[in-house]
Amino acid sequence: MSDTPAFEPRIVAFFCNWCTYTAADLAGTARLTYAPNVRVVRIMCSGRLDPQFVVTALRQGADGVLIGGCHPGDCHYQEGNYKMLRRFHLLKRMLKQFGIDDQRVRLEWISASEGDKVQRVINEMVAQVRDLGPLALVGKPTPHPDASEKHAAA
Ligand code: FES
Repeated sequence: MSDTPAFEPRIVAFFCNWCTYTAADLAGTARLTYAPNVRVVRIMCSGRLDPQFVVTALRQGADGVLIGGCHPGDCHYQEGNYKMLRRFHLLKRMLKQFGIDDQRVRLEWISASEGDKVQRVINEMVAQVRDLGPLALVGKPTPHPDASEKHAAA
């Protein structure tokens, strides 16, 4: 048996305050457990997400980035999510040029009532990035020794 701890991906999730963040809250209150590998950053609209935030998260230790926004037509700022969608396609192209597998980033529309979708998407993303393995970037910080403790997948 190997002493090497199993790889546990670190995922940064940027969730819109009005929908996906609320859905994540709902998942919590409904006791819908999901993989603990995700650190959620609340933003006021997916359209607020500068692609640079994603690049910075990946450079500073994340193995994947999940973005959650309101369904098309439901954005509180009219068309922030459409802006996000356009940027997302550009972001994926840019990441490919850096040699980063574009499956490390994911965009999902999740309304405030879809706690079960938050659970499913997070679990799928963690499994997918776990299969891809750690993101190796020059200058990326190595995980803190305490971070190697095994997380129990939900
Ligand atoms: Fe949720 Fe714009 S307010 S995506």
